[in-house]
Amino acid sequence: MDKIALITGTGRGIGLEIGKQLLEIGWNVVFTARNMHAGRPLVNDLREKWKTAWFHQLDVTDEQGISDIAEYIEDTCGRLDVLINNAGIQIEENHTAMEMDMDDLHKTMATNLYGPLMLTRAMVPYFKDSKDARVINISSRAGQLSGMGSGQAAYRISKTALNALTIILSKELEGDGIKVNTMCPGWVRTDMGGPNADKSIEEGADTAVWLATADKIETGKFYADRKVIPW
Ligand SMILES: NC(=O)c1ccc[n+]([C@@H]2O[C@H](COP(=O)([O-])OP(=O)(O)OC[C@H]3O[C@@H](n4cnc5c(N)ncnc54)[C@H](OP(=O)(O)O)[C@@H]3O)[C@@H](O)[C@H]2O)c1
Repeated sequence: MDKIALITGTGRGIGLEIGKQLLEIGWNVVFTARNMHAGRPLVNDLREKWKTAWFHQLDVTDEQGISDIAEYIEDTCGRLDVLINNAGIQIEENHTAMEMDMDDLHKTMATNLYGPLMLTRAMVPYFKDSKDARVINISSRAGQLSGMGSGQAAYRISKTALNALTIILSKELEGDGIKVNTMCPGWVRTDMGGPNADKSIEEGADTAVWLATADKIETGKFYADRKVIPW
């Protein structure tokens, strides 16, 4: 059966690359971006090579947008195998918990935590016809409790919470056969990671693609470089 993945935040960076790597191995990929004018032309270009690339606008903080994408999945494929919650923001460069703007914290939580929660809830009905349903949350070692540092406070808090949500959902959805994992892509040369980061975008996409495609994976784990890492 053809596999179907939905990825958030594919207008640039790691999300776009994950989608390309899945297309390359024959998957159907629903690319989504909050900016339709940037996201759709990219996918139109991809369709010149891969006819299994699809596009729908989605801002993960927009509840109506979440309902709309659910309707789109219902009307087009009616089934989903893999959801990749990739969209993320890091508003502040190095703000402390003491100094950060509370509005920045609200916005960061809305994108990095509430978005993945709302979208996962909306997609669960479409996993029921999948033989191997998986949710992959793109988190960060910045949210790893062991060795937690300071700075980037809003971002760290949001990713730690995303990791907690991963464990909770993995347990709630185990009975439905849906595996839920979280992962850090490493420090990647994207707009977020900057030009001095260790990894290329292709390398940054690797673990997410592996989690989507590996024959057997666990559930409720935190991964980096294809290995389970501590919370
Ligand atoms: N790069 C790194 O070193 C690194 C390290 C650890 C974890 N990560 C994580 O990896 C993921 C991807 O990061 P990246 O490096 O590819 O970052 P990026 O280049 O900054 O791209 C982020 C993507 O998320 C999208 N986005 C932001 N808010 C959104 C919203 N409300 N709705 C839908 N899309 C939204 C952006 O869309 P617009 O183009 O519209 O802004 C953009 O496409 C993030 O979750 C990030 O936290 C990255």
